[in-house]
Amino acid sequence: MTNAAESMGERLIGALTGALELCTVEIGCKLGLYAAVRDGANTAAELAKAAEIDERYAQEWLEQQAAAGFLTATFELTPGTAAVLLDEGGPAYAAPAAEFAVGVGLLTPTVIEAFRTGAGVPYSSYEHLRHGIGGFNRPMFNHLLTTEWLPAVSSIDQRLQAVPGARVLDLGCGMGYSSVAMALAYPSITVRGVDLDEHSIGEARRVAAEAGVADRVSFTSADAAAASGSYDLVTIFEALHDMGDPVGVLRNARELLSPSGSVFIGDERVSDTFIAPAGEIERLQYAFSVLHCLPATRAENPVLANGTILRAPTLLGWAREAGFEQPEVLDIPNDFWRFYHLR
Ligand SMILES: C[S@@+](CC[C@H](N)C(=O)[O-])C[C@H]1O[C@@H](n2cnc3c(N)ncnc32)[C@H](O)[C@@H]1O
Repeated sequence: MTNAAESMGERLIGALTGALELCTVEIGCKLGLYAAVRDGANTAAELAKAAEIDERYAQEWLEQQAAAGFLTATFELTPGTAAVLLDEGGPAYAAPAAEFAVGVGLLTPTVIEAFRTGAGVPYSSYEHLRHGIGGFNRPMFNHLLTTEWLPAVSSIDQRLQAVPGARVLDLGCGMGYSSVAMALAYPSITVRGVDLDEHSIGEARRVAAEAGVADRVSFTSADAAAASGSYDLVTIFEALHDMGDPVGVLRNARELLSPSGSVFIGDERVSDTFIAPAGEIERLQYAFSVLHCLPATRAENPVLANGTILRAPTLLGWAREAGFEQPEVLDIPNDFWRFYHLR
């Protein structure tokens, strides 16, 4: 075997290990096994009893998790596993990554068929992914959106704190976590979340009710290009690249703004031009693009199907085409997203 074949083979086996281990994490999350281990179920018999599962499976899962380094050799949680898989409100929570992977895998046969026919795969088909995306982004909305991101633009922060309260439109709101986080942080504002996916809107209403802000946060299932009303701030988080008419959406957003209003966008942090091989995060985004974002946008009968890789020059070009005279990239550090302010 050549060195090149050997290293490619090693790489694939490493990726396979990672993919399979993610599926075992999903088993642990869905069956409450990590929580049971945290609460003292550190043998197969204890875990089987606590989580109401079969003891032989419990034994194999405990050993596999320890072999993977997710549990200690005596089947206890490591501090990292506790923070990433169990602390749902914490900044390091990333358990939905497992649901993400499983959700994408389930739809891969459908995507293979779409490659043949050119058809799209509607966002609503990716049921597990909806929860994966929402759950994955939620810690950023809860911990960074109103403490770092929006305050980075002082005019936005001031307007959100002012009375009478600002009207905010959250386009492509998904499960509503960003809309709710803004309402909780700024008690005078009202937020309207809009998303094409009816299932997401149903979940968003539940999220707002549970957070006690349903009187100030409403949700509508609609195309962002057709949203209506008048707003002081329009936000779009990790959704512009998914929309089938991004310039139409930005043009509409501009028309809905009050005289001092503006648009705040968070979308993928990728390089300005195509680079191969790419860095770790861009590789992740490209894989999402092939497996999910491009097929989902193709299902919208799009004017343009961009895929996940929304580069800064492309977004700024769309903004200018939509009539914004001063689109700018904001200097907000984040591994996954880049931020834009359009006026
Ligand atoms: C990656 S998800 C992000 C959801 C949410 N903003 C978050 O960060 O968790 C993209 C969202 O854009 C929505 N979307 C796609 N095309 C849309 C359109 N034309 N109008 C409104 N929403 C759209 C999808 O339904 C999906 O909920």
